Amino acid sequence: MTLMDLHGWRESALIDGAWVPASDGKGTAVYDPATGARIAVVPSLGAEDTKRAIAAAEKALVAWRACVAGERADILMRWYALMLEHAEALARIMTAEQGKPMAEARGEVVYAAGFVRWFAEEARRIDGEIIPAPRSTQRILVWREPVGVTAAITPWNFPAAMVTRKVAPALAAGCTMILKPAPETPLTALALAALAEEAGVPAGVLNVVTGDAAAIGGALMDSPVVRKLSFTGSTPVGRMLYAQAAPTLKRLSLELGGNAPFVVFDDADLEAAVDGAMLGKFRNAGQTCVCVNRFLVQDGIHDRFVERLHARMADLVVGPGTDPRSTIGPLINERAVVKVDDHVADAVRRGGRLVAGGKRERGLFYQPTLIADVPADAKIARDETFGPLAGIIRFREEAEAIRLANDTEFGLAAYLYTRDIGRAMRVAGALEYGMVGLNEAAISTEVAPFGGIKASGMGREGSRHGIAEYLELKYVMMGGL
Ligand code: SIN
Repeated sequence: MTLMDLHGWRESALIDGAWVPASDGKGTAVYDPATGARIAVVPSLGAEDTKRAIAAAEKALVAWRACVAGERADILMRWYALMLEHAEALARIMTAEQGKPMAEARGEVVYAAGFVRWFAEEARRIDGEIIPAPRSTQRILVWREPVGVTAAITPWNFPAAMVTRKVAPALAAGCTMILKPAPETPLTALALAALAEEAGVPAGVLNVVTGDAAAIGGALMDSPVVRKLSFTGSTPVGRMLYAQAAPTLKRLSLELGGNAPFVVFDDADLEAAVDGAMLGKFRNAGQTCVCVNRFLVQDGIHDRFVERLHARMADLVVGPGTDPRSTIGPLINERAVVKVDDHVADAVRRGGRLVAGGKRERGLFYQPTLIADVPADAKIARDETFGPLAGIIRFREEAEAIRLANDTEFGLAAYLYTRDIGRAMRVAGALEYGMVGLNEAAISTEVAPFGGIKASGMGREGSRHGIAEYLELKYVMMGGL
């Protein structure tokens, strides 16, 4: 019995309310990154299956957009409740396919469910406007309408939260959706879709297509029926999707790569900064877009910060996510391990001082690594590491910190630790990022607008701005009154 069978969920794609195999019968295996064991096989859908899902979403749109907001909200609230009811099962499936420690997986279920509740609440606040008209015989009404059929392509690092962050606002707005989860982590998405179905989401409103990325992505991007795509993933893929969206002029939300700086000034609360560093760097073994990629630490606090961070890192336990003692799970695949190794070797080759770790432990597990005196031109300063490597760059002046922090093509998240209110406001304002954690590393929440600028993408997820991504404005000019 597989984990999915155990909970009555299917390793099948969901099209028009039916759980289906690929039309050619092909499948894609899913592996546990902690053990390398094959844990499931999901359908490997292609372009034709995807076109069927698009047609189903188009057909379902008519009734779903006509459904009153309160009804959509009630269905989403039931989905939210079911997610919490099945939190343990969802967390187990997530840990099995993604590797994160069970405590983090449980936390992700709550985080993911939070988006469903938030957008259920927002559904009833989709209002309009009346604008004073230029003539007394006129009235101007502004309506917010669903964008229509939408698509989402989600990543493997947050198999639940990145799904609900896209599906919930789409459904709340009255859109239908075709979801393509990451090939590494389709099971959590399928389990969530089964719960959505149980909650009362009608057939065709949410379709889940697993399988061939190029074929599915191509069919979604080519279709004029699909009016919007929301994608979370790498910047190169985001650029490709942006180009592919041009012929049909699709709306896009792109949450792409990051290269988060974590700036610690001399006047910072050292313990708070170290707490923030631990969370901001080692959550999900460093595999988040908002994970700290480089620490910029001022001269006067530098040595104490390195010493405290090193001491705290000794508490990290590398091991399978199913072991309750583990705090650092495996990386997702061999390519990820090779990349972290490359960033470590590069930093050391350029004069960085290896303080802790620096090696693969076994399989896909990598030691939490600390490198001090990293030069500002090292790879970790330019390229997203996506692993448990903390590299510390020393700086002297505030202006130098701002220059180093902004010296990247990315602009997703940045962190800043200082107790000087003037400096806090100055530096937060000068950081060219979509999100800034000021004396705080826990910035991800459904109530705030998550997203980046520059090569980190466009659009916002979460908060009241998240639902606007799935709404169009229509204005009606009434005359002859
Ligand atoms: C991401 O890594 O893309 C999302 C991280 C988060 O929601 O905190």
